[in-house]
Amino acid sequence: MNSQHTCVDKEALVFDASSTPGRYTVTTALPYANGPVHIGHLAGVYVPADIYVRYLRSRGRDVVFIGGSDEHGVPITIKARKQGTTPQAIVDHFHALIKKSFEDFGISFDIYSRTSSALHARTASDFFKKLYEEGCFIEKTSWQYYDEENKQFLADRYITGTCPRCGSEGAYGDQCEKCGSSLSPDELIEPKSAISGNAPVKKETKHWYLPLDQYEGFLRKWILEGHKDDWRTNVYGQCKSWIDGGLQPRAVTRDLDWGVPLPLPGTEGKVLYVWFDAPIGYISATKELLPEGWEKYWKDKDTKLVHFIGKDNIVFHCIIFPCMLKAHGGYVLPDNVPANEFLNLEGEKISTSRNWAVWLHEYLADFPGKQDVLRYVLTANAPETKDNDFTWKDFQARNNNELLAVYGNFVNRTVVLTHKYFGGKVPEAAPEALSAADKEALGQMCAYAGKIAASIEAYRFREGLNQMMDLARLGNKYLTDNEPWKVFKTDPARVGVVLNVSLQIVGHLAVLSEPFLPFTARRLYGILGMEPLHWDDAAREVLLEGGHALNQAEFLFEKIEDEAIEKQVGKLQAAKAENLRSLQEARPDYPSLKPAIAYDDFARLDLRVARIVAAEKVPKTKKLLKLSLDAGFEARTVVSGIAEHFSPEEIIGKRVCLLANLEPKMFKGIESHGMILMAEGPGGKLVFVEPDADAVLGSQIS
Ligand code: 2FM
Ligand code: ZN
Repeated sequence: MNSQHTCVDKEALVFDASSTPGRYTVTTALPYANGPVHIGHLAGVYVPADIYVRYLRSRGRDVVFIGGSDEHGVPITIKARKQGTTPQAIVDHFHALIKKSFEDFGISFDIYSRTSSALHARTASDFFKKLYEEGCFIEKTSWQYYDEENKQFLADRYITGTCPRCGSEGAYGDQCEKCGSSLSPDELIEPKSAISGNAPVKKETKHWYLPLDQYEGFLRKWILEGHKDDWRTNVYGQCKSWIDGGLQPRAVTRDLDWGVPLPLPGTEGKVLYVWFDAPIGYISATKELLPEGWEKYWKDKDTKLVHFIGKDNIVFHCIIFPCMLKAHGGYVLPDNVPANEFLNLEGEKISTSRNWAVWLHEYLADFPGKQDVLRYVLTANAPETKDNDFTWKDFQARNNNELLAVYGNFVNRTVVLTHKYFGGKVPEAAPEALSAADKEALGQMCAYAGKIAASIEAYRFREGLNQMMDLARLGNKYLTDNEPWKVFKTDPARVGVVLNVSLQIVGHLAVLSEPFLPFTARRLYGILGMEPLHWDDAAREVLLEGGHALNQAEFLFEKIEDEAIEKQVGKLQAAKAENLRSLQEARPDYPSLKPAIAYDDFARLDLRVARIVAAEKVPKTKKLLKLSLDAGFEARTVVSGIAEHFSPEEIIGKRVCLLANLEPKMFKGIESHGMILMAEGPGGKLVFVEPDADAVLGSQIS
């Protein structure tokens, strides 16, 4: 074992970021390239991150925005195996699909990279090697599950079983998706190989562990003391419970043939654990983007590092990756990790396997040109502090009643009236012509840049969006209250002032809505005949000078009709029906029920609790085991046809249900007195019907 203290004690990290840092590194969780992206991903990670980055750019801040595909990990190899193809083919397909969907949706990454690149393999390898050479790992040999038929260790999702926490079946070796608990393979009840369905055996193997327990002091100081007030309650709370629960060493290597190979001699067949290499992907993507200048975005203390993730990734980004960075030394730590909760869909958890999702590439095809509508709805409903729900009815209502009726209507009326009364030129408004109400409106307008900035900087994107819409509401109300269409005949000069004020509000809307609604903002600048402005311009009252020529009005939003919504709801209903159908298909054919019996018939059976105390094969048979039972009131011998399902050793000590009054019968010269009750397990394997541990030996089962 190596010495581990140097890494924890290394002082090379920066906890403190000043309020206006020199630069920002903004990362988004790298989606696994084994399926398309859905609205849950967008609401949780990519839309808020994009709002944040667009805002920073609009303020002229130096920022790199990093995305990419996570192309390693067991789910990808499982998918490849199922589809009879290679992991590389799977990730090539989905990487291209995801990258294109993000581009079309306006997620403005500076780079969208991938972790199967050679540069990433080198970067992750070097990172591991440095930690290895500095003695940051513990090397440990342990017994791990192994599929003998496929000659493969069963890491992470290659092993499934019953969750020890919530009892649901199909939990994985690393996590139960039902209750969210993280698990280790050894905790699974009745584990089986996800490849063959067989019960696994145990085999010895060596792995490298990051001793997280040694970082407890560092984590307490950095997170629990240092970020109590600025990290979200959900993030802070999860970190606290991990730390208080006692951190354990974490294996950072796996026995797999898909991943970054371990850069140590004699370790063929071993790769870096996907959660070790994936976050390093943020660094390699930055290197790919800026081969010469990447380092300052990761190592300069004046860099603010922000990770946008979903809540299931908190431990990796707040605990494990920071410990890796700390162990390596020289890197900044995340300043914030604004993890979102989950978005549900029509009241149910989004599920890839059940096709209960709105897929981004399908949305883009079904609603061309409506990227901003989805961005708006996902931000208005963002699961920032609790899980939230997306419904198609709400989507329609927010488009029709908010974007179209408020924002679009205000902009359209203002521009159309300017064309109607002033030939499309911004009317002059001398300061002395402004009424108290005009000044009040302009004053309120100018405050929005600061208010929205404060919300965005505090990662409160919902609040920022509402404020942006309040500005549109302010404009809409101002226009309605002043009724220029009624006044023009009697006082055209007044109408000029009203439209000038309204146009300033429209100009501010263009600037302040850009992070939230970038496609709309671009079109709005086009209508206004302006080049895009910067955020700080919105502190000025006048953005459009008198005499400036506007372009023709066009509708920024259009009504979404019931038919479009019904089509989407229909898609979900079809997914539900398909699920039900395949669930029914997947059910084994149950034998038909036997004819009814009277209670007395049942009462004639004498069933008892017993325990197997010895077992041996019956010579010259394939199927028979001779079982010696402790039945409480007496010892029993039973010959049972289970030899193909169990070895004698593995069943000693098992508690069983014994049919005790079955008349004795001879098998190969052995008198069998009774019968053991068995049921069918997965794949036709026999399993014991096991009495509860408290059931007294010899007691009657009735
Ligand atoms: O949970 C996931 O989808 C992971 N692929 C996220 C990885 S984030 C990072 F570390 F790369
Ligand atoms: Zn569970």
